[in-house]
Amino acid sequence: MGQTLTEKILDDHLVEGELTPGEEIGIEIDQVLTQDTTGTLVWLQFEALGLEEVQTELAAQYCDHQTYQFDFKNTDDHRFLRSAAGTFGAHFSRPGNGICHNVHKENFAAPGKTMLGSDSHTPTPGGLGELAIGSGGLDVAVAMGGGAYYIEMPEVVNVRLEGELPEWGTAKDVILELLRRLTVKGGVGKVLEYTGPGVETLTVPERTTITNMGTELGATSSIFPTDENTKDYLSRLDREDEYVEIGPDEDAEYADEIVVDLSEIEPLIAKPSMPDNVVPVSEVEGVDVDQVMIGSCTNGAYEDILPGAKMLEGRNIDKTTEMIVAPGSKQASEMLAREGWTAEMMAAGVNFSEATCGACIGIGHVPASDSVSLRTFNRNFEGRSGIEDDNVYLCSPEVATAAAIAGEIVDPRNLADELGDLEAPGLEMPDQYIGNSESDLIAPDEAVDDELIKGPNIGDVPLKDPLETEVGGEALLKMEDNITTDHIIPATQDILMYRSNVPKLSEFTLSRVDDTFAQRALDADGGVLVAGENYGQGSSREHAALCPMYLGIETVLAQSFARIHKANLFNFGIVPLEIDEETYEKIEQGDDIEIVDDAADAVRSGQEEFTIRVNDDWEASGYLDASEREREILAAGGKLSHTKAQHEEG
Ligand code: F3S
Repeated sequence: MGQTLTEKILDDHLVEGELTPGEEIGIEIDQVLTQDTTGTLVWLQFEALGLEEVQTELAAQYCDHQTYQFDFKNTDDHRFLRSAAGTFGAHFSRPGNGICHNVHKENFAAPGKTMLGSDSHTPTPGGLGELAIGSGGLDVAVAMGGGAYYIEMPEVVNVRLEGELPEWGTAKDVILELLRRLTVKGGVGKVLEYTGPGVETLTVPERTTITNMGTELGATSSIFPTDENTKDYLSRLDREDEYVEIGPDEDAEYADEIVVDLSEIEPLIAKPSMPDNVVPVSEVEGVDVDQVMIGSCTNGAYEDILPGAKMLEGRNIDKTTEMIVAPGSKQASEMLAREGWTAEMMAAGVNFSEATCGACIGIGHVPASDSVSLRTFNRNFEGRSGIEDDNVYLCSPEVATAAAIAGEIVDPRNLADELGDLEAPGLEMPDQYIGNSESDLIAPDEAVDDELIKGPNIGDVPLKDPLETEVGGEALLKMEDNITTDHIIPATQDILMYRSNVPKLSEFTLSRVDDTFAQRALDADGGVLVAGENYGQGSSREHAALCPMYLGIETVLAQSFARIHKANLFNFGIVPLEIDEETYEKIEQGDDIEIVDDAADAVRSGQEEFTIRVNDDWEASGYLDASEREREILAAGGKLSHTKAQHEEG
């Protein structure tokens, strides 16, 4: 039987297990990526593990999430990250050089490689045939030290593309269409592999918009085969020698098939406040728009900004609407500036930001209260923009720009009819990508530091003791479905600056759900969290497991868990138990929860069903779905304690 592209790459990198869906496999990692909000912990963990030098082919540390250095703690973090990259042997991308996925795509992403990144949108380079997976930072630290990365073998789903995009139809609309059909849970446990005649009609920048937002479907990764378009893109980047032709075998078998006819794609928009809340733009026409933003790792490339620039040529944006462009990389900024497009957009009333994630996580350009913001980003979870009563819509750069011109949501096709002289800009790549100052992306052999520099806000990583025999406590918080890592540890600037200071950061744990939670957890010396479906969706932020661990949380009872967060719970020694809907409905906040079994023993011995005793009154079952390796990690008190013990044993 032939292999899918995903299977081929995994097979090439397999160090343990078999490629059977659902079975745990260990793979070798070629490249790693980390960013500033997760990176400090990655390097502190790398240090705590006693590792001395990066062992992967390539490691890159980016500074992109919180680049505005308005507090010394951020600047200290960036200085620490530069020193860690220099000391241990990683590339270092300075603050302002761009968003990790954009800069990585431009400089390092290569077909056939595996990549692990401590950011949930790590799968972006799947558009170039790289199999890239997001994970917690500790997994990244271990992989950088040469350790295998373990994952449940995903199902591989064939997304067959047919036809060609029509005028005003974009790659963003393709992924929004998939979100509309499959929802934010539709890709869980799957790799989405794109095939079919429609693939060759899409450029690499379009493909990476699609693979980037596969994360919103919950997919483990998304990948395209390589072809002449990949080769062409790499040659424009002066990296043609990294091209490898790869694709699935003709008789490859997939777990499922989804067909998308590109010719039927129309402008779509995700309404507040979930990326799968997708409708045709025409359905929400006429909504007044206060703010428009083009940027992010999804649509912040040169090819994403240029259409807006063309649409704005010789026009002005509406007086009631602000428009901000935050390029995904400094290279994109530099090219747009050199070609005069920045000036063109400024003349139309647009403001430019440095190349940063920034507004995507509520750092800068926070919308006015109860206002409407149209963004080309990938997430619109409530409050992520920096204000709770936000109304963030997600759309293509073309739809965003049309709204900036009209001052309200409008289908760009209708605006074109109305204006008479507005042409569909299409997608245009530069002949050659230029820019990228050498001092902004520092190679390991040009490192400027050879020892770690830690400011006063940078603390050690807390370690957890091995799992005890008795686990449980008060149900400190009962939460709804779809609790995101943003709910658990918000990524807003006032909180994120404590990312290297776990005791301080922990004070903000779940504060968006209940601001008394952290203190109550400390007072109770730990306890239990209860949640509905899809607990921990969103980013790869391991602080969302580390901080509850620091507060003494020993178990989370949820109807289901998001993949990366569940791995993070294992990594930090918190037992994730799945409960059914009836149990979820019955448990009340404040209930006394006792896991009846000897937890340490049960976890180690492979027991799957656990008895949960509530208020010494009634009982239910909780299920632990974990591999043997994950059980060992849990029993040891988390991956750091486990790996450290292994190292000490020699
Ligand atoms: Fe940054 Fe937002 Fe992407 S935080 S990495 S631009 S999802």
